[in-house]
Amino acid sequence: MKGVILAGGLGTRLRPLTSITNKHLLPVYDKPMIYYPIESMVVAGIDEIMIVTGGNYAGDFLRLLKNGKDFGLKKLSYAYQEGEGGIADALSLAEGFAEGEKICVVLGDNIIEKNFAKAAADFRAQSVGAKILLKEVHDPQRFGVAELDGKKVVRIIEKPQRPPSNLAVIGIYMYDQHVFEIIKTLVPSDRGELEITDVNNAYIKKGQMTYEVLDGWWTDAGTFSSLHRAASLVEKGGANLPPAGVKDRFNTSRT
Ligand code: DAU
Repeated sequence: MKGVILAGGLGTRLRPLTSITNKHLLPVYDKPMIYYPIESMVVAGIDEIMIVTGGNYAGDFLRLLKNGKDFGLKKLSYAYQEGEGGIADALSLAEGFAEGEKICVVLGDNIIEKNFAKAAADFRAQSVGAKILLKEVHDPQRFGVAELDGKKVVRIIEKPQRPPSNLAVIGIYMYDQHVFEIIKTLVPSDRGELEITDVNNAYIKKGQMTYEVLDGWWTDAGTFSSLHRAASLVEKGGANLPPAGVKDRFNTSRT
């Protein structure tokens, strides 16, 4: 399974911090934000990654990450998203890179305490479809929210005013090769974006969506308060802790 990290968009909610750099290059405690999704993929056994970025500072990703060897990556590729057409629009740029393989997509501003190695292993064994990860939150209105019927996800609603549950769909998604066909059928939402939630609902309609609930804390880092929260969570307990028995390559601050 290959990895795609989405680090485009203009980061308008973080201006003026993002007036002179890309959101995903901002510091989260002791590392640039983009390090966290890369490391979480490496811990999940993914060593070929494409970063999709955009805007005026795309070249800085290359200066920072180079060929990805420092992270133990076999291959690090880059794509440039013009404009801010949404998460699914950014993902569409990875079609050639995926070469028909399954892909794992991580949003560049999502940070997790532990790892998604088990979910990735389960998805490698899943014959078709997609997998999402859910996490209980106290402010579901800010996210895509899952509606469950027993053990099945029946619908995802993007930023609902009246959330059907407190289970947010976090920014880690796994798809089979049909994801790119689905993206081609999407139309822009009211906010003018191709929504990843519409992609996920298409898989739910086909009866091919599975989910797992993430263990450990999760946060995004795209607003002032979540960026601050991310830094303090990382300071307190590290991030991307590997599965038990696997040597921790990234964290020295484990408690
Ligand atoms: O963090 C999880 C949430 O992320 C999900 O629960 C939502 O369902 C999903 O829509 C998304 O919500 P946000 O509105 O918070 O996403 P945001 O616009 O902040 O974009 C998240 C990342 O996606 C961003 O850090 C970079 C990437 N992105 C976003 C856009 C709009 C792109 O690469 N290109 C884009 O055009």
